[in-house]
This record gives sequence, structure tokens and C-alpha cells, in this order.
Amino acid sequence: MERTPLLAGNWKMFTTVAEATELARAIAVEPVPPGRQVMVAPSAPALNAVGAVLRATPIALSAQNICWEERGAFTGEISPLLLKEAGATMAIVGHSERRHLFAESNALINKRLRGALRFEIIPLLCIGETMAEREDNATEEVLEKQLRQGLAGVTLKSGHQIIIAYEPVWAIGTGRTASAAQAQKAHAFCRSLLGDIFDKGIAQQIRILYGGSVNPATIAEIMAQADIDGALVGGAALKADSFLSIIHYKTL
Ligand code: 13P
Repeated sequence: MERTPLLAGNWKMFTTVAEATELARAIAVEPVPPGRQVMVAPSAPALNAVGAVLRATPIALSAQNICWEERGAFTGEISPLLLKEAGATMAIVGHSERRHLFAESNALINKRLRGALRFEIIPLLCIGETMAEREDNATEEVLEKQLRQGLAGVTLKSGHQIIIAYEPVWAIGTGRTASAAQAQKAHAFCRSLLGDIFDKGIAQQIRILYGGSVNPATIAEIMAQADIDGALVGGAALKADSFLSIIHYKTL
């Protein structure tokens, strides 16, 4: 079954509004290659400005997080209504930085994910093991817990309603990409688990992205793996030329 490859840039907290706008303009100059999708996720205060740049383009806009309520006493949170106003169609949930630096639990991430679905925003659920967990042979156990708890109570009509990103924590921002074989193994495991959580047809539709030190030199081999449907790129998405070469990777 066809899953459109998604090349996604997570700009984290690296850009000012002016820099984010400039970066979006520089990326939007090049047409998106046919049969591929591109997304960028700026910091929340830059969503409106970047959304305005991307409005006339096929590039999708994503938030880096999302609240499950549209209004109320939720200091510091971002309403799905405001995301929609900015033109965002996706929201990252459960990024490892949220889990590890801000103590977001699977239960909290599940609330965010279900909130996104309620507002017809595609949640991009990030999962991934730490190096200690990998060395303990606990990778699959950790991924299973993050997927089952993150997706608890979710029913889907189609696998296009959500996206998963496998981001091994030890590969994020370290320059240490998981090998293509390591990533493929984790992705195949996740897909079979998604078949169990939903059903096999839906699991075949769900895109599973790889993230962790992806760069122009590693993208082609990553994308050649059967169960890898795209990349969630941090550092290498912050410069237009390197992100554009990732977007234009050669199919092996
Ligand atoms: P890096 O590409 O900088 O390793 O970041 C990956 C990431 O966390 C994307 O969400």
C-alpha cells in the first residue's frame, strides 16, 4: 500500500520569528517533488508568520505540541483553535525532549493526541528508547508501552489520521544515526504492533517516520527501508540547503 513519504523539519526552539519566516521562504522557493510531502514545525510564536508564507504552497505546517482543550485556565499551553487559525494541520506530540526534559508522561501525551484528533489535526506521535534501554534489550518493551499508552482509547477510520515517529533518544542531536537496519527493525516492530492495536489494513496506511541525526548523507539509505515512510529532521532542517537536499533525496 502506498504511503506518501513525509520529510518533516522540527525546528525546536532554534529560530526567531524572523529567522523562521526566512527559512520557510527559502524552503518554499523549490517545488515539492511529486509523490512526496514536506512539513515544517516552527516554535509556536512563529506559526502565524510561517503559516502565512506557506499558505499558497503544498508544504504542511505543524505545531511542536498541542493542548487537548480549546480554551481555559491552561497557562503555557497552546490551543488547537490557535493552531488551526495559523493554518497548522499537524502537531507533534510526545517528542523525547517533552518526555525527558519536561516529564511528559504517556498518559499526558495520550490526552494531547486525542485532543488533536478531536480537532482534526494530525498528531505525530514520537516514541523512542534511550541508550540505557537499548543496552538493556528493552527497546521493544519501551516502544510497545509508548505506543499502547499513547494510543489508548483511540479508534481510527483510516491510518492517515495519525503519524508515528521513531526517534531513538541516543540518536537525537548526537550525530549518531541509527543504522538503516536498526531503524527498519524498530519500524517493522511498530507496524506489527499498530496492526494489533488497530488492524492490519490501518497499520499499512500509517506513516512511520525515522528521526535522529538524519542528514543529506544518510537520508537515501534510511528512506530505502520498507517500513520507513519519512524523516523527522532536527539540526539538518535548520538550513534551507541541507533540508532541501533531504527533501530531494535520491530513491535507491
Ligand atoms: P536531530 O535531527 O537534530 O538529531 O533531531 C531529531 C529530532 O529530534 C527531530 O524531532
